Formats: sequence, structure tokens, C-alpha cells
Amino acid sequence: MATANGSSAALEEVEALRQQLESLQTTLRKKEAELETVAPYNRTYGRTMVATVLESDSQGLSLVGKTIRVGGWVKTGREAGAGAFAFLEVNDGSCFQNIQVMVEKAVAEEVGGLKSLTPTSTCVLIEGVLAETPEGTKQKVELKATKVVHLGSTDPAEYPLAKKKQSFEFLREKAHLRPRTNTIGAVARIRNALAYATHRFFQEQGFLYVHTPIVTASDCEGAGEMFQVTTLLSKVDEEPEVPPPSPEELAALRSQVAAQGEAVKAAKTAAAANKEDKEAAAKSKAEVGTLLKLKEQLTKAEEAARNAGGLPRTADGKVDYSKDFFSKPSYLTVSGQLNGEYYACALSNIYTFGPTFRAENSHTARHLAEFWMIEPEMAFCDLADDMQCAEDYVRFCCRHILDNCRPDLEFINGMIDKGAIARLEQVANSPFKRVSYTEAVELLEGVVASGEKKFEYPVSWGIDLQSEHERYLTEEIFKQPIIVYNYPKEIKAFYMRLNDDGKTVAAMDVLVPKVGELVGGSQREDRLDVLTQRIAESGMPMEPYAAYLDLRKYGTVPHSGFGLGFERLILFATGLDNIRDVIPFPRWPGNAAY
Ligand code: 4AD
Ligand code: MG
Repeated sequence: MATANGSSAALEEVEALRQQLESLQTTLRKKEAELETVAPYNRTYGRTMVATVLESDSQGLSLVGKTIRVGGWVKTGREAGAGAFAFLEVNDGSCFQNIQVMVEKAVAEEVGGLKSLTPTSTCVLIEGVLAETPEGTKQKVELKATKVVHLGSTDPAEYPLAKKKQSFEFLREKAHLRPRTNTIGAVARIRNALAYATHRFFQEQGFLYVHTPIVTASDCEGAGEMFQVTTLLSKVDEEPEVPPPSPEELAALRSQVAAQGEAVKAAKTAAAANKEDKEAAAKSKAEVGTLLKLKEQLTKAEEAARNAGGLPRTADGKVDYSKDFFSKPSYLTVSGQLNGEYYACALSNIYTFGPTFRAENSHTARHLAEFWMIEPEMAFCDLADDMQCAEDYVRFCCRHILDNCRPDLEFINGMIDKGAIARLEQVANSPFKRVSYTEAVELLEGVVASGEKKFEYPVSWGIDLQSEHERYLTEEIFKQPIIVYNYPKEIKAFYMRLNDDGKTVAAMDVLVPKVGELVGGSQREDRLDVLTQRIAESGMPMEPYAAYLDLRKYGTVPHSGFGLGFERLILFATGLDNIRDVIPFPRWPGNAAY
């Protein structure tokens, strides 16, 4: 909504001031770091972070002559001067760059000589004097060691990540060591910066951070791709209290009950025939007693038979969830949206940022079983505002890492994806195109008709756009991020607002080059009658959505939101090919290692 309170000149002035402030803050941070007046935890063991030295304005020159301690893991080490000294490239993860450490033979004597320091992945904490390097050297300073304070040695014959380049697949199998590689280290820092940018963006816009639950009983997307949370299974292999009877035993017990029923009948008839006969009366009573005992035995046996296999079952044979931990079927959340909506419908603008889970059997390079999602939800917000928010947020993130992760991005640009920085610049600097679903389908049909492109999945109005279609639109037709909106209602979730045409819903997806779908969102259906009908049409039960419907009963409000897949944003930012390499410990079908 174009409801800015000021003129564009005033807005520009505010923007200019914001930039000035940011630049001053950056300078202040660097100066503080140089004076070592910040982040005392970086200086445990008296240690100075490598970033504090190398990323300061003077690139360490202002610290020349000072004694400092540097700790980290050796990237490469080599002896020189015919074994008189060694050069170590040490990395502590605080920045992409390694600091060069020069150790003389005598200094290494106490820890077993130079050879114990040089293997890749050796951990060292070294005290030394910072010295200027000769003109023309890559770095302005190096550390001349005076003491090896700590040594955590590594046997190079056993260390699995040798110096040469390893495949990403191999590194995934060594996920506990892969953060020591240049690429995974850079990705970790970029991931951290994007998380920080996310909180900054939403906090600066006045959004409240809401923690939505991870265990839930409702399926937000209605797609049935949920992991169940239960404690019932853990008991399955335990010995049952009552051993389940065999079918023959059960049948024998049933006929015993039936025969005893007959015996009771006969005894009762005899007793009724002669009311004076005390013996007959006693017999009848005894037969009833036997019948009751047998019936109880049968009930227990039937229950034991139902629970055979360890799962409690109801009389109609279904799993008895009243015996489960939460007393009803419960799952890991696929999205925090519904809970987010509850809070947005009271606190206006909120966002969530947490893990989400999908039990889809996807083995693609864009899907994880556990991933992180950012989900803002805004009251008094329509689809146009929603699209603008998604665009502003993504562009803010790109700008943030361009400004704050330069050395990591330069490494990635050089080694992994030559277009990474240019792509980030383009996204940070240009607005996203909007294109309706109908137009998008027409464009795709056009390229198919002209023979320009063949797709595996045929295109026509009504289809769910496949990854190949999404990527063709953003990579080939528009060559930039686009937002596709107003999708057919049949292919989208029940909660999206029905448009006046009765055929489409106010949904939007942000599609970006390299990744395809980055964001999925919509304006929410805020009309009680329409929403009730949409839930009924989707064939879903009404009961779990009672609270969701309440929001439309008590003070309904037009509202919208979206979900951004955090790992997809990192994929886009880094240009890596596989989503499994941008989350520390990836989970996919068949893998939950570490
Ligand atoms: O499009 P999705 O399914 O939308 C929702 O879950 C909505 N409830 C969001 C909302 O409106 N609050 O998922 C949102 C995004 C996708 O665009 C994609 O980026 C990411 O989440 N995503 C996945 N990322 C990694 N692995 C998967 N299996 C993913 N599934 C979705
Ligand atoms: Mg989606």
C-alpha cells in the first residue's frame, strides 16, 4: 500500500541518514575492535581473534610490536630455512583469512619440534609479537611466535580431510570436520550473517519475534507430509503384561463362554421351575459366577489380542492415541504459520524463525527433511503489501552480506560460482518483476509452441508449476527474481484468500535464479463463511481448525504473510549446488547422521 507519510524527498533524506549511521557504526565497530575493547569472550586464554587483527582498518599494522595470542587450526604448515623455522597458516573461523605465524625451531622445541606443528588441522594457541611483512606480501602482518601455549596434534596419516580438494559428497560424510574447510566455513559465516540480517530487518520494521511450537496437532499445509511424534512405539518391543492369545485360544474361550451361557440358562430354568429347591438356586448362582469370570477372561484376552504388537488399540481396532504422550496424534510442525496468525491477529506484525520438518520423500538438491523457515505475518496487509515485504526482506539480506561478508563472497565467487557477487548486486539493486500465474503460464506455453524449449512436465492453466518451469521463468525469460501471484485455488492451500473471480487465490511465490521457489505466501482468507467452505471443500475435518476459525469470528482482519526457506536463501546467496551443504547437519530421507 502506498501510504507513506512523507514526500519522496523526505524518505530519501531518511535513507541517506540511515546509510550514514550504518557506515559510522561499522567504523565504530572496527575502531573498538582495534582497541580490543569489545567482545571479551574472544579473549579467553588471552586470545585475540584473527578477525580483530586482519579485518581492522589498518589490517593489523596498528598492532605491530604488540604481544598477542592467536588460537586456531593449521590450514597449511611448512618448514623452511632448512628446518630452522616453519610458517603456519592459522584459521580460527572468525574470518575467512588465515593469519601467518612464523615459528622458530627453538620455540617449537618444548612441544616436540616444528614437525608437530605443521600438519593440517593441528590446533595451536601461540603467543607472539605482531610484525610487519615485507612489501608485496598478501598480508600486512604476521605473528612471530615466542611461545606455543597449547598444542592439539593431528596425525596427518589419519586425518580424513587431506589438503587436496574434496567432493561435497565426501565432506557430507565428515560433517563433524567439514566446518574446517574454506567453503563450509564461508557458508557458516554467510548463514550467520543472513540470520542476523533477518532479525535486523524485521526488528527495524517493528515486527515481534514469536516462538511458535515445534510439536503440533495440525497440518498447516494440509499436504500430509508430517513426521509423527509418539512415545507409543518405544514400548512395542517390550514383553506384554498379558501374553496375546492365539486365534485358536480365543475361539476356544468364546465357545466356552457360549456354552456357559447355555449352562446358566438351563440352571435358571431349573431353579425357576421349583422355587423351593435351594440346591437348584445355589447351582444357578454358581453358574452365573462362572460365566462372569469367563467373560472377564475373554475381555482381557480380546484386549491382549488387539494390543498384540505392542500398540494399544481401541475396540474398533484403531491405534488408541488416548494412551500416547499428548493423548492425540501429534507431529513435528511443517510451518509456524497458523500459530503466527494467532499472534498477528492481536499484535499486528510478527515473525517466526525456526526449524520446520517435511516428511516428503524428496531427494532433490533443493529439499531437506529439516529446514529453517522465516515466516512473517502482518495484520492490515493485502497481497501487494505482502509481495513488497518479501522483496524488501530478500534485497536487504543481499545488501547485508555484500557489505559484511566480502572475503567469504570473494572466495565463493572465485572458486564456486563466478556469478555469485554479480547476482547479489543485481538483486540488491533492482526491484522484482510481478507476473500473474496466468501470464506466466502463457509465457511458458509460448516458448513451448515456438519450439524454443521442451519441458518434462506439460504446461497448461491449472498445473502446479514445476521446478523446471519456475527456473525457466526466472533464469531464462526474466533473468532476475520474479513474483508470481494469483494461482488457481485447486493447487494452493485452504487458507489462501479466494479472489473475486472464484477461480484463483491471492497467493504469491518469489522465484529466483539458481534456486526456483524461495518464498511462498498469500493473503489469508479472513471471511468466516468462505473459509469454512474452503476447509470443507478440501475434505479436511473442521474440528482441528476451530481456533483458526475463531480468529474470523472475533474481530477478523485482512492479513497476509509468507514463508522463506532459509537454506534456499543461503543457496541463492552462495551459489552452491546442493542444499545439503548449506545447513550444518543435513537431514534427508535415509540420513539423520550426527
Ligand atoms: O511454500 P511453503 O510450503 O509455504 C508454507 O509453508 C507457508 N505456510 C508459509 C507461510 O505463508 N507462512 O514453504 C515456504 C518455503 C518455500 O518457498 C521454500 O523456500 C521452503 O519453504 N521449503 C523448503 N526448503 C527446504 N526443504 C524443503 N523440503 C522445503 N519445503 C519448502
Ligand atoms: Mg510453496
